[in-house]
Amino acid sequence: MAKPRNRYVCQACGSEHNRWQGQCPDCAEWNTLTVESAVVTIFSARHDLSAGGRPVELVGLDSEVALPKRIGTGIDEFDRAIGGGIVPGSAMLVGGNPGIGKSTLLLQVAARLASGGHSVVYVSGEESVDQVRLRAIRLGLGEAPVQLAAATSVRDILTTVGNGAAPALLVIDSIQTMHSDLIDGAPGTVSQVRASAQELVRFAKQRGTALVLVGHVTKDGTIAGPRVLEHMVDTVLGFEGERSHQYRILRASKNRFGGTDEIGVFAMEGSGLTEVPNPSVLFLTQRGEAVSGTAVFPALEGTRPVLVEIQALVVRLASGATPRRAAVGWDSGRLAMILAVLEARCGMSFATAEVYLNVAGGYRLSDPGADLAVAAALISALSERPVPQEAVVMGEIALSGEVRPVAHGALRLKEAAKLGFERGWVPAGLEAPGGIATTRFAKLGELVEQIVAG
Ligand SMILES: Nc1ncnc2c1ncn2[C@@H]1O[C@H](COP(=O)(O)OP(=O)(O)OP(=O)(O)O)[C@@H](O)[C@H]1O
Ligand SMILES: [Mg+2]
Repeated sequence: MAKPRNRYVCQACGSEHNRWQGQCPDCAEWNTLTVESAVVTIFSARHDLSAGGRPVELVGLDSEVALPKRIGTGIDEFDRAIGGGIVPGSAMLVGGNPGIGKSTLLLQVAARLASGGHSVVYVSGEESVDQVRLRAIRLGLGEAPVQLAAATSVRDILTTVGNGAAPALLVIDSIQTMHSDLIDGAPGTVSQVRASAQELVRFAKQRGTALVLVGHVTKDGTIAGPRVLEHMVDTVLGFEGERSHQYRILRASKNRFGGTDEIGVFAMEGSGLTEVPNPSVLFLTQRGEAVSGTAVFPALEGTRPVLVEIQALVVRLASGATPRRAAVGWDSGRLAMILAVLEARCGMSFATAEVYLNVAGGYRLSDPGADLAVAAALISALSERPVPQEAVVMGEIALSGEVRPVAHGALRLKEAAKLGFERGWVPAGLEAPGGIATTRFAKLGELVEQIVAG
């Protein structure tokens, strides 16, 4: 038999190397390479694989196939994020920061399905059965017929659920605590995570059980363990939100059974996660009288508009100190760009002023269509003239100072009209729907005039 050869596997990205190094050459993380033994068998070393196999049947694309039947969980925001319900035999990976509410969400999903007559098994490798039960009681789900277990051995789990009819849903909380005895190494290492996930996914595909794996995330927000884990499952979901804010967003970053452009919005409350069917209410601050420095932008999450408030503060500095620019929920590079365009094309001077920009409610905006709303907030803050309260603002700003169109402008205006806004400040050329008036801007300078003139 060939001599086992050692290989060094990066625990952050999963890449393999022949020798140990302090820094992974692929992902540049430090101290992440650990040794794993790789056995080169005579079979893989000597045999030619191009003959001697069993022929597999090849079929055409046009053969009959039924669409996957989806099981609705009854939690609409969850179903929406995964594309319309759980697909039997599929594997889902749910990642998210510690304490964000992954276990809470999945326990609620499990309980709803179980109460709907499906068999559901919830395996916790992190908490004792009593801890999970206490959470269920706090969430008011104590009566749901979910079958609980605290276990970490994949073999034990599969033996348990493989006896008799396979459950409709199997939740594994979390994959980093699982251990496969086929492989050496502590739970949580790349090879253990990979092997455990492989076994569980194989079971799910064979028996038609929907599998949900909870995955830990690293400090930069990616799911811990090898990238390959994300390739092994059908759907990758991220559960996001600021710990200090109430709302949580469930977002798919990969989905083999549906789109990834829909989100589920929840609010974390003492009694668990509640659905938020109309997210705009969360992100619009209480609107009293008009104040300078704020503008409302109709953002789009999937097909769903979400109205968010953008706030700017401009503080004139008397001394010659370098003024600060800070942005929360908005890219600071893009803030600098908008300030530069205002400066160069519209003659507004922010040079001696500190500029702070904030997106209310802890929401994060990356849509360039929000440029015009950011500019409106900045102009309003500098000139101390409010943007009219009944207006929403959208448009992308080019370096030339032109205002560019945004995607789905009419849809955004419709949502704004539904929430009581009467006017849209929009790029020139937008076809406006009925029910809302528009003011059109072709150049950023026109916006400045509009706000300054009041
Ligand atoms: N008694 C309570 N009352 C109100 N909220 C609570 C209570 N206990 C926990 N929570 C909320 O639930 C959150 C923890 O949720 P959960 O355990 O589902 O998170 P998790 O994502 O599974 O975390 P981990 O990664 O540690 O497993 C807490 O951060 C807190 O906001
Ligand atoms: Mg948990």
